[in-house]
Parts: sequence; structure tokens; C-alpha cells
Amino acid sequence: MHTFTLTLLSLLPFSLASTHSRPNDSGSFSSLTQSYYPPTADCIDHLIPVPITSSNFFFNFTKWTSDLELTDFLSIATTRPSAGFPGVLEPPTAPETATFEIAASFCTPKIKNGKEKTVIFATHGIGPARAHWNSPWRPEEFNFVQAAVAEGYSVFFYDRLGCGASQKISGFKNQLSIATSIIQVLTSFVRAGQYTGDIKAEKIAHIGFSFGALATHGAISMTPEISDAVILTAIGFNSSGLNVNGLARSFVPRIAALQNPRLYGDRDNGMVTWVDKFAQVQNYFKKPNFDEATIDFVEAAKEPFAITEFLTLLTGPTDASNFTKPALHISGEQDYIFCDGLCTGIFEEPARTIYKNANPLQLTLHPGASHNINFHHNATGAYRVITDFLKNNGL
Ligand SMILES: *[C@@H]1O[C@H](CO)[C@@H](O)[C@H](O)[C@H]1NC(C)=O
Ligand SMILES: *[C@@H]1O[C@H](CO)[C@@H](O)[C@H](O)[C@H]1NC(C)=O
Ligand SMILES: *[C@@H]1O[C@H](CO)[C@@H](O)[C@H](O)[C@H]1NC(C)=O
Ligand SMILES: *[C@@H]1O[C@H](CO)[C@@H](O)[C@H](O)[C@H]1NC(C)=O
Ligand SMILES: *[C@@H]1O[C@H](CO)[C@@H](O)[C@H](O)[C@H]1NC(C)=O
Repeated sequence: MHTFTLTLLSLLPFSLASTHSRPNDSGSFSSLTQSYYPPTADCIDHLIPVPITSSNFFFNFTKWTSDLELTDFLSIATTRPSAGFPGVLEPPTAPETATFEIAASFCTPKIKNGKEKTVIFATHGIGPARAHWNSPWRPEEFNFVQAAVAEGYSVFFYDRLGCGASQKISGFKNQLSIATSIIQVLTSFVRAGQYTGDIKAEKIAHIGFSFGALATHGAISMTPEISDAVILTAIGFNSSGLNVNGLARSFVPRIAALQNPRLYGDRDNGMVTWVDKFAQVQNYFKKPNFDEATIDFVEAAKEPFAITEFLTLLTGPTDASNFTKPALHISGEQDYIFCDGLCTGIFEEPARTIYKNANPLQLTLHPGASHNINFHHNATGAYRVITDFLKNNGL
């Protein structure tokens, strides 16, 4: 026990020192203007007030003030047989109303082919900010927006609440229901032609990554009319693939503001992040299909997440049978988070049942990748599957 504690403490100076190697750090991931835009696109940024109403769980546990206390919380939460995660959340009472400032970018191709009126509405997951879709790092390999624009599509992508240049709220409060409501309200703005320059969307295709996929799934399950196609990336619905205790252990969460006060000092102690880049690799990447320089970029660009986002991951609606338009689920074949490292055999069900009326439902396992399909080798192969799916379905 003592050895374990000492090992953790000895990592601390290392993590602080490593913050100096953030590539070209000028707070670019927390500013409204992105450090890179595809040269083939016209892009604009907006800080958008988004009024929402959501039914929120209440975090009913002593808030930690140190990593030692956080670690004790994680130990208790993962102790057998009955402690578990749900015990720390009190169910929603009355819906709550709030307005949040959301930082968003909209990119449309400079050369238009008619498809620019299909707007891809992108929600990132736990770990990155909106640059997940618009990577400044080797964009020809890792930039989804650039790949989509090359096929003629427009893309609306935003920092989720608490991330990047969007408003920061308590990490003991932010959660899935809030993320879902933000998708619903922001989509209505995009549908109305707000924040998309001269483009008035004729079709909106929602794409989400991981937590963003679950929030997207929740939004289209409850309000299927908001979307013309849905793409869930890094997803899996088979409960045998989701090892929640295992994830709490492999993420090794730490208080983000303590890990890097300069970057995350404006977040409260409920905002956490994995302990180091190796924990990121374990959860998000599969050897040999990544390179370490790319890991260093993703680690440098990382954003903390709310403990309550993690705890509410599975609290959204499941049944999406009211969604009758095209749906694509695409995950790394070796997704560590939703498939416990191997999706083969557990990817089809219950996805087919949950999306039984999607027309069509395409299920794709992307070879050689774990969770973060956007930053493995062959990310453009996954982007191709996504844009082909849209084209094949008339979007
Ligand atoms: C950082 O900035 C320098 C000079 O502006 C540039 O040469 C270099 O490629 C940049 N590095 C990254 C990782 O963006
Ligand atoms: C929090 O949990 C305690 C029991 O652990 C309970 O007595 C209390 O009413 C709860 N608070 C709220 C606001 O639900
Ligand atoms: C599907 O839509 C019907 C009709 O509006 C509604 O009664 C039902 O609750 C919806 N199902 C789900 C799972 O939301
Ligand atoms: C999970 O996948 C297994 C293997 O295909 C299947 O037997 C099981 O029914 C699936 N679970 C659910 C909830 O569909
Ligand atoms: C790249 O990705 C595509 C789409 O998943 C796949 O069909 C192809 O086999 C992949 N290429 C390699 C070399 O893995």
C-alpha cells in the first residue's frame, strides 16, 4: 500500500514537467478560434448561448479536495458487491433550466458541389475538445472536418460544456442529460440557419464520439425528428463489453486542476483526467496502429471530464426504435471502452434491436483500432466509411 502511494506521488512532478511539452501551447485548445482550419474550407466560430432544460442527477457524495480523497472515492465505488457507482447519484427531481455558452465552429467547402447543404453536426467525447474533429496535427491523416469538406459536406462542431472554449461548470454537476439537451437545442439553431453563415441546412447528420455518441443517441432516441442520419463512432451497446469498474481502474482519474494548474486551473475538483499518456493509450489506442508523436499530440490537446459525466454514461434512453432514417455505428474492432478490447461477436446485438427501424442500419468494425478511431493509423479509412455512408443514403 505504501509502495503504491509513493509510486503515485513520484509521478506528480513528472506530469507537471510534461506540461511544458504541450505542442505550441498558447491555450489554443481553449480559445474560440482554432489553431488550424482546413485550407479547403471557409470556417467561422461562434460563442452561442444555449438555453436548456434537463433532468439531472444529483451527486450526493463528499466532494474530494485531494487526489488521495478522489482515490478513496474510486476504491469505494468499485468495491464489491454493492457499493458501485449508482449509489452516489440521487435521481432527478424537477427539471432544471440554465443557459450555457457553447463555443462552436462551422466549416463549409470553398468549392461547393451541392452537398454543402448537408451539415454534419459533431459532438466529441470524454477526453478531447472540438479539435477531435479538426486536428491541427497531421491534418491530412487525422482531420475529419477536412476529409468531410473534401467530399463536399459542411461540418458544425463544438466544444462540449466544460471543454475548450465553452463555459466551465462543476465536474460534480455536468452530465449526460445536459449534453443531450444541448444537442437538441443547438440542432434547432443549425436547422434554422443560425451560426452557419450563408448555408441553410437541408439535411443534418449527427455524428458523435464515445460519450458524444451516447449523448447523440439519447437525443435522436427522444427526438428522432431532429436528425436525417446518425453516425455513432466508438460505441457499443452490449453490456458484456462494458466493464465499468475496469474503466475506473484503467483511467486512473486524477484531479485535473492539480495535474496541470496552468491549463485546467479554472476547473473544480470534480473535473478529472487520466493520470498520464500511458493510461490514455490503454483505454483509447491499440498497438501497433498508432505512433507516439500522435499520442503526445492527443495528450497535449486533452480536456478534463466531469466525474458526473462518467457516472451518468449509461443513464440515457436505450431504445432508438423511433429513429427510421439511416444510422451507422462504427467502432474500432478492438475498442477497449465499450467492447472490453474486442468488439467481434458483441457488436451486432443489441444494436440491431435498439435500432430496429433504422433504414438502413450499417454496423462497421474498423480494423486495427481501439477506441479513438480518429487518431489511429488509417483514420481516413474510417472517415471514408462515414462519408460513403452519407453518400450511399442520399445525403
Ligand atoms: C509549432 O510552431 C512552430 C513555429 O510556429 C512550427 O514550426 C511547428 O511546426 C509547430 N508545431 C506543431 C506541433 O504544431
Ligand atoms: C444524500 O444521501 C444521504 C444518505 O447517504 C441522505 O441522507 C441525504 O438525504 C441525501 N441528500 C440528498 C440531497 O438527496
Ligand atoms: C416512440 O414514439 C411513440 C409515438 O410518439 C411514443 O409513444 C413512444 O414513447 C416513443 N418511444 C420511445 C422509446 O421514445
Ligand atoms: C451480447 O452479445 C452476445 C453475443 O453475441 C449475445 O449473446 C447477447 O445477447 C448480447 N447481449 C445483448 C444484451 O443483446
Ligand atoms: C482502413 O479502414 C478501412 C475502413 O474500416 C478498412 O476497410 C481497411 O481495410 C483499412 N485498412 C487497413 C490497412 O487496415
